Amino acid sequence: MDIISVKSLSKNFQIPEKQPGIKGTIQHFFSRKVKNVQAVDQLDFSIGEGEIVGFIGSNGAGKTTTLKMLCGLIKPTSGSINIAGYQPIRRKKNFLRQITLVMGQKQQLIWDLPPMDSLKVNAAVYGIPEQESIRRIKELASMLELGPELTRPVRKLSLGQRMKAELLASLLHRPSVLFLDEPTLGLDINAQIRVRDFLMEYNKQFGATILLTSHYMGDIKKLCKRVLLIHQGKLFYDGLLAKLSDQLSPCRCVKIELVEPRPIESFLEFGDIINYDGQLIKVLIHKSKLAENLSKLLNLFPVKDLEVTDPPIEELIGKLLQEGSFK
Ligand SMILES: Nc1ncnc2c1ncn2[C@@H]1O[C@H](COP(=O)(O)OP(=O)(O)OP(=O)(O)O)[C@@H](O)[C@H]1O
Ligand SMILES: [Mg+2]
Repeated sequence: MDIISVKSLSKNFQIPEKQPGIKGTIQHFFSRKVKNVQAVDQLDFSIGEGEIVGFIGSNGAGKTTTLKMLCGLIKPTSGSINIAGYQPIRRKKNFLRQITLVMGQKQQLIWDLPPMDSLKVNAAVYGIPEQESIRRIKELASMLELGPELTRPVRKLSLGQRMKAELLASLLHRPSVLFLDEPTLGLDINAQIRVRDFLMEYNKQFGATILLTSHYMGDIKKLCKRVLLIHQGKLFYDGLLAKLSDQLSPCRCVKIELVEPRPIESFLEFGDIINYDGQLIKVLIHKSKLAENLSKLLNLFPVKDLEVTDPPIEELIGKLLQEGSFK
């Protein structure tokens, strides 16, 4: 059953356009000019209960704006959103109890206080009885591997510890729909892995639905079978992550380790070279020419090692965005 349903969702921002300098300020005072930014453009998608969906796209694609509309923080310009039977913009109590928004670049915990103090406040706000809140804190803290950190002032915690405490605070009311905006931003690889494992476990244990944005493809690969890819506010792809690379590129990535270095020119005819250091070459070869080109390569050069894989998805997305070849 779908828990999130979005139809023709759009958001325009009107930004004042002011020329620099005093003259610009005076002109702006008398005749205001505004520029229209179409941040989100006619999005349609739905998400089933318990799904984890990756929301990906380049900077400025419209991800955060969409998440804010899904939480009811900003009003859509047009279109409709239905989450578990609620319209987010109404911010009904029972709606707010079911959702949470975690933003990697914003914190809700109070800087000078230990997370435990903020957790007590959160528990009171949501009307969670004391015994129950202690039980939940213990349960989540053990899943997140948090211990004495909860009683140290937030400012003394590492970024990873702080993020885990943020997650704990955002989940204390046991929401069933999680909106996560870059929850692993700036974390080292170990902390990223811990946060991913935790989200996986939370999803399994509580059947929560998760919509997650991240610029780290590792997060997306680990957590999301399905992705929504947006570009300039428009939905470009909605489907399995595994099929996205097929859709983005009909190529395979061939990694060749040569016995001795060869000039880059020797490989240009085979496809797009994505990496070259003389002896190690990575080239994207079209699927239709794969067999032919591989045998040619093996005939021409003494090869130490060869590997054929799907091209790295982040490179494909980056390349497409650079070329502006989105539909
Ligand atoms: N409050 C606002 N006022 C005016 N324009 C805005 C506002 N918020 C976002 N925008 C614009 O809307 C577009 C989408 O921004 P958004 O923050 O949703 O992108 P994003 O996909 O989250 O990017 P990133 O990956 O960098 O976080 C951008 O062009 C941005 O400048
Ligand atoms: Mg964003």
